[in-house]
Parts: sequence; structure tokens; C-alpha cells
Amino acid sequence: MSEANTKITVSKTGSYKIEGPVTLVDHDGNPIETREGKPFFLCRCGLSANKPFCDGSHNRHEWDHGLAER
Ligand code: FES
Repeated sequence: MSEANTKITVSKTGSYKIEGPVTLVDHDGNPIETREGKPFFLCRCGLSANKPFCDGSHNRHEWDHGLAER
């Protein structure tokens, strides 16, 4: 499997931005649909109602994003 052109950006205040070719799967290895060819954002705060995707909930709660960057 080659994911050579995949880029994952850890934002300062929220999600992981995923760009490039990647296969997203759940804990059983089942594919999770993403928008083909479009970047998507994964939740890293645990507050999203649409996990594993970010739904912007990190903006509405006190969440110490700095701890997740260590
Ligand atoms: S990072 Fe955005 S809702 Fe969790």
C-alpha cells in the first residue's frame, strides 16, 4: 500500500486535516466513506457527534488542544 502523497496536518485548535490518497477504515477494517479526492477532517478532541469526523464541536467546548500536540 502506497500512501506517499498523503498529508496529515495537526491543526493548532482542532482536527486532523487529511489530504491525498488514503483509505479510512473502522476498528474492524470496514471502509469508511470519504469524499473522493477532497480533504477531510478527523476529530481529535473526542467531542464530535459525527466521529471519526470533526463536526466543529471543538469550537463550542473548553478543550485543551495543546496537550494533544506533544
Ligand atoms: S476536533 Fe473538531 S470536533 Fe473534535
